[in-house]
Amino acid sequence: MSGPQKSSKRFAEVVAHPNIALAKYWGKRAGEGNVPATPSLSITLSGLSTRTRVTFDPNLREDKVTLGGRVLSGPAQRRVAFVLDEVRKDVVSPQFAEVSSENDFPTASGLASSASGFCALTLAAVTAAGLSWEQSRVADLARRTSASSARSFFSGFAELVPDGATARAAQIAPKDHLPLGVLVCVTTEEQKSVSSGDGMKRVAERSPFYAAWVEFAARSFKEMRGALLEKNTLRLGELVEENALAMHATGLPAGVIYLKPETLRVLETVRTLRASGVYAYATMDAGPHVKVLVLPDSNEAALAALTATPGVLRVISAEPGDGARVVAEGEA
Ligand code: DP6
Repeated sequence: MSGPQKSSKRFAEVVAHPNIALAKYWGKRAGEGNVPATPSLSITLSGLSTRTRVTFDPNLREDKVTLGGRVLSGPAQRRVAFVLDEVRKDVVSPQFAEVSSENDFPTASGLASSASGFCALTLAAVTAAGLSWEQSRVADLARRTSASSARSFFSGFAELVPDGATARAAQIAPKDHLPLGVLVCVTTEEQKSVSSGDGMKRVAERSPFYAAWVEFAARSFKEMRGALLEKNTLRLGELVEENALAMHATGLPAGVIYLKPETLRVLETVRTLRASGVYAYATMDAGPHVKVLVLPDSNEAALAALTATPGVLRVISAEPGDGARVVAEGEA
């Protein structure tokens, strides 16, 4: 349905949180449409936020996009323009937009900033345009830009499952389903050198393990989903760490190596914690940071050990959080 046609400036502001994949999306199905090759399962995190404001303005002659106060250009700007163009297709008198986005955590370093960023951008653009799209349609547009962003629409635990030429995102369980905590061990403030999209493309083309990964990932997702719904936290933790290590192992022969010496040091701390009976399981995305799953009774010991691990710059405490939401909208 088309939105109201106004000549004044209209804005919307959205807060979204990153999500971390417990079962990873890593690889795309052949063809157009950005469809994941593997099903994924995630936790949307409190404690880390993206805030994005989109203003459609009849006086603008081009889109203006800033991230953390810096003007975006090149491929990053084109991905944003894709979302805005798709929204403008549904508007009778399309206008250019001013987009400003801020993260309160390192951008593009494997802390899922693209997930919260494209989720917030898409919801803000659709809202500012006055369109009454179903949530599934908004999430699907975000998914076509950055697939993991479709999961950040949902609070708690979410999934993204490939389905023919598309993929469906949905909530699996609410945020209070399990008392899990996530200790995000930040190991660098720098941006990653290989984006997720480029990394997965290279792995699919060059890794001798890629086909085995895709087959493993489907099984791992299914079992993990079951363990989550049964509240089997021990099995869940084992599957989470195995899934992450399998993803990273698949990249090694293709030269797609996100793990750094400090990543391995954190993994060693996690293994030592477990050996002493402390619940702690690690996962890493397309970057060197480590996110450690903990329970209320393991949180304190794990936080102390992780903070003391050489190479860990700081530890952010997060837990299952809220989905994306519009925090302000109206005439600018
Ligand atoms: C390792 O969603 O960033 O974080 O669709 O190309 O934008 P694009 O990729 P993206 O990949 C995320 C990869 C991952 C695992 C995950 O979040 O499932």
